[in-house]
Amino acid sequence: MRIFSGIQPTGRKHLGNFIGAIRQYVEGQDRGDAIYCIVDLHAITVAYDPADLRERLYDTAAVLLAAGLDPDRCILFRQSDVREHTDLCWLLAGVTAYGELRRMTQFKEKSAQQDFVSAGLFFYPVLQAADVLAYQTNEVPVGEDQKQHIELMRDIATRFNARFGETFAVPGHRIPEVGARIMDLQSPDKKMSTTGATDLGTVYVLEEPEAIRRKFKSAVTDSGKEIVRRPDKAGITNLIEIMSVARGLAPEAVEKEFADAPGYAGFKEAVGEAVAAFLAPVRERYAELRPNTPRLEETLARGAEKARDIASGTVALARSRMGIGPA
Ligand code: TYM
Repeated sequence: MRIFSGIQPTGRKHLGNFIGAIRQYVEGQDRGDAIYCIVDLHAITVAYDPADLRERLYDTAAVLLAAGLDPDRCILFRQSDVREHTDLCWLLAGVTAYGELRRMTQFKEKSAQQDFVSAGLFFYPVLQAADVLAYQTNEVPVGEDQKQHIELMRDIATRFNARFGETFAVPGHRIPEVGARIMDLQSPDKKMSTTGATDLGTVYVLEEPEAIRRKFKSAVTDSGKEIVRRPDKAGITNLIEIMSVARGLAPEAVEKEFADAPGYAGFKEAVGEAVAAFLAPVRERYAELRPNTPRLEETLARGAEKARDIASGTVALARSRMGIGPA
């Protein structure tokens, strides 16, 4: 079982990234051959500062290691260190339809937020397909917002195999049952994100416990008092899911525990407390790991070497199938 996922080195990692994705990366190490990539080449598709990008890359590597990725049990590397990704991206462009890319929801949303819409932003899902297909991946752990990109890469792989002969494994997504789409605490109709959402509504992985408690205390809910998951109760449903993951309980168990609560205030406080406790060990390990940049760099370089060994075989096969280069 080959598992692969990617994460952007942009912004500060939030609870949505942690619950929807990072938590699954850690558990993937016990289920298969796990490969994780920090996608710096995806980050340059929108406006950014070069010096800042490097720092955010180390921040992200340290968060992933602090969360429990173990370089002896998985491959962790920087996308741009393995040139095969961009090589394969171009090969796959030949079997990707313009209309498919134009339909991507993430492109529509992100391009609406930019003054300058780069061609890279439009091409983003093709590079993402190359990331995954280069490793003969079976399973891609992601949050719900990436479902469409995974479906596209399945179509690309299937089309390539049909046209040029069996070359790529066709990957499937692994979206968690609880916490696949963590919502903003202030606007529970929007997903939690570093762009577009409010700061008070976004909980960061490395945030101080006091700030985390404050954010949950002021979380927006409806005017009722029942603590149950229901489509008309987006705020409370979100808090139940977060509590369920932070405490390692089924959402039903959370509902049961708070069934007699007199209102939402105590529940919100309890969720804040649970999340602060859930994230505290990650924050502590991060503080130890982040200052040692040479060590992080060494871990990424070792990961890149192993990744290259795998990716180069797939890309050589794809080139040969397509009639590129000498026979
Ligand atoms: P990125 O860095 O934007 O997001 C990283 C992961 O976090 C998940 N996520 C969420 N999950 C639940 N609730 C939320 N509010 C929430 N916000 C984000 C995302 O689904 C993602 O799994 N395009 C990818 C990066 C990528 C990639 C890949 C992923 C590049 N190549 C290859 C998989 C395979 C992305 O959006 O990353």
